[in-house]
Amino acid sequence: MTDGFLLEAPLLSRLARARAVLVLTGAGMSAESGIPTFRDAQTGLWSRYRPEDLATPEAFERDPARVWRWYEERRRAVRGAEPHAGHRALVELETLLPAVTIVTQNVDGLHQRAGSTTVWELHGNILRSRCHVSHRPISAQWLQDSPHQPPRSPYVKNGLARPDVVWFGETLPERPLEAALAAASGCDFCFSIGTTSWVQPAASLPLLALEHGAAVVEINPDETPLSPHAQQCIRDRAASALVTLVSELRAAMQENGTAVMTAAGQHTRKESEHDQ
Ligand code: OAD
Repeated sequence: MTDGFLLEAPLLSRLARARAVLVLTGAGMSAESGIPTFRDAQTGLWSRYRPEDLATPEAFERDPARVWRWYEERRRAVRGAEPHAGHRALVELETLLPAVTIVTQNVDGLHQRAGSTTVWELHGNILRSRCHVSHRPISAQWLQDSPHQPPRSPYVKNGLARPDVVWFGETLPERPLEAALAAASGCDFCFSIGTTSWVQPAASLPLLALEHGAAVVEINPDETPLSPHAQQCIRDRAASALVTLVSELRAAMQENGTAVMTAAGQHTRKESEHDQ
């Protein structure tokens, strides 16, 4: 911490003037909502399960019932989880800055439930299902009415329902990936929050932002491969770091009159000594 602010003063002032902000989130963003991460040593899912048994198309072909049951457990955890103060701070960030785009590797929908409006899911959503052959979406009602585990596909003979998530070896959904690449190359400030920065292509988004001149700030208690490239690494958990950071940003903007929201919700610039 420097200058008495969590975010170093030059970065805070850069954030206050940012036109477009990209927030990339990973499993660490949901950890404080009680959803386990993947790679944390004791608590991460991949310390207890092998991804090749549960998170590949081959695993599903081999034993669809086992894979479905494992996702059913994870769906239960997600349904029982609530967004935390850090998710809500990101919603508040939207009211302070002209454009905030969230690109998430998380499949739990917590950003949307908190109220963030522009959220791109790179790895799908665990609460949605689709046909494993045709990839067409399958309704929750159909799943609920089915006696099978996994339920049969309504579209394809011998087809099954599978979770609408990206498994190892699969390509990412096109629209979210395109939107994420556009947000990374078009932003002037990028946060990377709660991700090990190991899984591609998500891991390269902050580097793309950096190449295009954006400031990059990491929020993660641990060092990652992104850390040496970031302008600042905040070694804290997502919830407390984001709450502090957004309240400091709000205070700094009010003090400098950098931008205010109108009643209609549009951003306007307020005249101040800095602007003259
Ligand atoms: P990981 O489990 O690999 O990393 C979680 C990161 O969050 C680690 O760097 C932790 O240090 C950090 N962390 C833990 N608690 C935190 C907290 N309270 N606040 C902030 N950071 C915290 O998760 P991802 O990087 O998201 O893919 O993993 C990427 C992808 O690998 C996942 O989307 C999943 C997985 O296999 C698919 O399911 C396709």
